[in-house]
Amino acid sequence: VKAPTVTPDVAALRADLAPHTVESIAELIGPVAVAALDREQAVPALRATEGRELGLIGPGLVGPRTDASATTALLRLFVLGAGVTRAQLDQALPRTGTAGCARLGLIEAAGNDADDAVRALVDLQPYATQDAAGSVQWWLASDRGELATGRSLRPDHVLGVGGASLTLARATVREPRHRVLDLGTGCGVQALHATRHSAAVVGTDVSPRALRFAAFNAALAGVAIELREGSLLEPVAGETFDLVVSNPPFVITPRTAGGVPRFEYRDGGLAGDDVVRDLVTGVGAVLEPGGVAQLLANWEHRRGQDWRDRVGEWLDAAGVDAEGLDAWVVQREVLDPAEYAETWLRDGGTTSDRDPAAWESGYRAWLDDFEARDVEAVGFGLVVLRKPAQAGARTSLRRLEDVGSPVARPLGEHVASVLRAHDWLTAHDDAALADARLVVAPDVVEDRHHTPGSADPAMVRLRQGDGFARAVTVGTAVAAVVGACDGELSLGPIIGAVAGLLGRPTAEVTAEVLPVVRDLLLDGFLRVG
Ligand SMILES: C[S@@+](CC[C@H](N)C(=O)[O-])C[C@H]1O[C@@H](n2cnc3c(N)ncnc32)[C@H](O)[C@@H]1O
Repeated sequence: VKAPTVTPDVAALRADLAPHTVESIAELIGPVAVAALDREQAVPALRATEGRELGLIGPGLVGPRTDASATTALLRLFVLGAGVTRAQLDQALPRTGTAGCARLGLIEAAGNDADDAVRALVDLQPYATQDAAGSVQWWLASDRGELATGRSLRPDHVLGVGGASLTLARATVREPRHRVLDLGTGCGVQALHATRHSAAVVGTDVSPRALRFAAFNAALAGVAIELREGSLLEPVAGETFDLVVSNPPFVITPRTAGGVPRFEYRDGGLAGDDVVRDLVTGVGAVLEPGGVAQLLANWEHRRGQDWRDRVGEWLDAAGVDAEGLDAWVVQREVLDPAEYAETWLRDGGTTSDRDPAAWESGYRAWLDDFEARDVEAVGFGLVVLRKPAQAGARTSLRRLEDVGSPVARPLGEHVASVLRAHDWLTAHDDAALADARLVVAPDVVEDRHHTPGSADPAMVRLRQGDGFARAVTVGTAVAAVVGACDGELSLGPIIGAVAGLLGRPTAEVTAEVLPVVRDLLLDGFLRVG
């Protein structure tokens, strides 16, 4: 795929789209219609925009253009699947016009008259979010979904931005990088995010169609992304990157003939969770020393085996050990086999009322497939791998855990701080830790739960507002030590004073407090002052 090129039509379109934003659409249709669109329901937005597009006031003549009427026409055409007229589109995009949109492959016009109908060939909408590098706003093209077409998706459907895309974009470490790889780039959203903090960005995909969308979106955003066609790590074999991000086709799909439709965007073509296993075990080979990989993934829970042990075997194969990679695996959600089948049947456009036969056969195919491998549930989560910056034996991070809280805020800085904290902790033994001055992170609060009438708390919990919004229950000694961590005194004297207050031996309190303080440092409750 050629490097994205900014043709005069793309430049015109960028200028035409600039006044229209996620906010202007929200203002136009209101929060109820916005929320309905998120659920793939177009009716409230169609109602809210009816008659508000540029009105024809005579043969070939339209009313005055306003930003709101232009936003209406763009929304109805490119998102809601409603037609507009040529004159309306010419007015909404005055520099590009219907002719420019047709040259770009965005629309098809029924004819050359002002009131001839124009229909969209792609979904085109603004995208705005916050990542750890600040707020972003781009226009992104992708394939039109069922909402606009009323038809099932094609097998090579190119997905727009979804919940998983947002989760990964928010969780990505946004430190300055030299080379970033976005594996399975789709419409290019992760690659676009990466251009904001990396000198070079490579996006790969098996789908030539996806790469064409990514190239268009990069050109429209005015950024450079190198795009390569190929499967998994094959297009970048022998190269290295200091950040790899991937929202891969991780959906576990039955491989029985005629069972379930296959969609390139979610199905990597291997049995079970083998695509994820191959990525987790293989991605270390393309990491620079100090480089980080962040992957979204599904993994099977097999009968009689803890999911941590199974994913842990992949980490062993990936080289997560004293000389090798660091690994942090966060399981955020678990679905049972039936919930999993329903989720992905619906995602593919099959519903029990629209096509009961396909629903039942697909449902059965999923359950049969899971049963064949003793799969009791499927976990969804985030995998973070890091190659050590220097060779040599060290204590690698190896953490597999369940964290249920949603990723609504940028998490990238939190992920980076956990990796930094791990490095600090491994470089400081307990004596050095006791010499450190620590402070409580500003997002941490303490909850004290009292049994009615009692003066002493029955339970003390520390809760963080940022990161994964964790809450930990701590004992009296730890609570007192944390409460005194204001960066003035080092940890050792604080522990000594708390031991004195509690009338307990200092060595005993030290042995109780230090391991907990290590966990609190790793999770960002405490920081080195
Ligand atoms: C879930 S989409 C992610 C799109 C985008 N990166 C995002 O975050 O929204 C997965 C992408 O992986 C691509 N893909 C499927 N099989 C692949 C493979 N074997 N190697 C590389 N990419 C693949 C699909 O075409 C699709 O674009």
